[in-house]
Amino acid sequence: MTELSLKRLLVTGGSGFIGSNFVRHWAQQRPGEKIWVLDALTYAGNAKTLADLVETGAVELVKGDICDRTLVTTLLQDHAIDAVVHFAAESHVDRSILGPEAFVQTNVVGTFTLLEAFRQYWQAQGQPSQFRFLHVSTDEVYGSLGPEDPAFSETTPYAPNSPYSASKAGSDHLARAYFHTYGLPTLITNCSNNYGPYHFPEKLIPLMCVNMLLGKPLPVYGDGQNIRDWLYVEDHCRAIDRVLHQAQPGETYNIGGQAEVKNIDLVHTLCDLMDELAEDLPVRPCRDLITFVKDRPGHDRRYAMDITKIQTQLGWSPSVTLEQGLRQTVQWYLTHRDWWMPLLSAEYQSYYRKIYG
Ligand code: NAD
Ligand code: DAU
Repeated sequence: MTELSLKRLLVTGGSGFIGSNFVRHWAQQRPGEKIWVLDALTYAGNAKTLADLVETGAVELVKGDICDRTLVTTLLQDHAIDAVVHFAAESHVDRSILGPEAFVQTNVVGTFTLLEAFRQYWQAQGQPSQFRFLHVSTDEVYGSLGPEDPAFSETTPYAPNSPYSASKAGSDHLARAYFHTYGLPTLITNCSNNYGPYHFPEKLIPLMCVNMLLGKPLPVYGDGQNIRDWLYVEDHCRAIDRVLHQAQPGETYNIGGQAEVKNIDLVHTLCDLMDELAEDLPVRPCRDLITFVKDRPGHDRRYAMDITKIQTQLGWSPSVTLEQGLRQTVQWYLTHRDWWMPLLSAEYQSYYRKIYG
């Protein structure tokens, strides 16, 4: 299969969880190639995460909003960008329930702004066929599965249930429409739940790790029987790299870990790993901290991804097992207090009280 040679990458949301892991992946795979990161550094973005790569000059971090059309156009032109990898988003379902407006603004209007700026830039360059716009999306656009339903495929109709997933669905439709209408070489990836280093401690796995280390309750929503399909973040980055270089423009790929687990079983595993790996813990065994709390409104019951297309067409499969990945992740939170401690700010505490009381 012929591979594109993309050299000048603009990564939006590169200071967040998956974006920063992707930038690290790219910098390791292609040393010497500079990467431009556009990130608004919201509560979820952290300039410290890529500070070492900024220091060496491998990454240039531009603090700015993807809704700022002038800024986006200037970045595309000044740095002769040939590919945009678009991670920037409001990404947390619970926050979308508390305040949906920011989700529509960043996820829908922001994606539209990027697509428009990229379209005009691409047309002004004579519509080069090797340019790419890869839009990173989620399995949540497909809605919720029953216990026996087949996994989501690329042809499953969209049925988003939260303001977050609805705003991601809107942005997916825009990316798709720009290919069909203008021929803009867009690609879409829809991925299941990621976990790993640099994950903000509002999402299930990092929240559990941090709370275990602080001896705080481990809040499990509802009956704990909801199912998610977990993928180690480095595997997601490899998949995006593969799609970017090998996929035909206009294509969509589902990505997943083939690791479906009930939330309560996942939390039990995390507790057991923490008991094993941590020397000092305020409360041991960690399972004593598990507390069932009020359910998330509209909580999707089950997600699962059919990844046949990316496996057969692009030869990608997950390489890290859930057991390995969770062990690495617990170890990472144990040894990176300096990264996550400063995130437990007054804003974080205020958010925490609103969600958990
Ligand atoms: P994150 O919340 O950790 O990071 C989002 C980043 O975007 C942050 O650095 C933030 O500062 C930046 N950002 C937010 N609004 C911005 C704006 N208006 N302009 C510029 N930057 C802005 O999110 P994540 O978990 O890394 O997710 C990245 C992408 O992957 C999102 O599009 C998300 O929908 C998608 N996704 C996430 C998962 C997951 O499990 N985390 C799974 C599938 C898909
Ligand atoms: O599926 C992909 C999606 O995964 C991404 O698109 C989202 O950006 C990402 O946030 C994630 O969404 P989820 O809602 O699945 O992830 P979260 O970590 O918030 O929750 C995972 C499961 O754990 C879910 O069933 C809700 C439950 N949960 C979550 C939290 C924060 C709890 O039981 N307790 C909690 O405190």
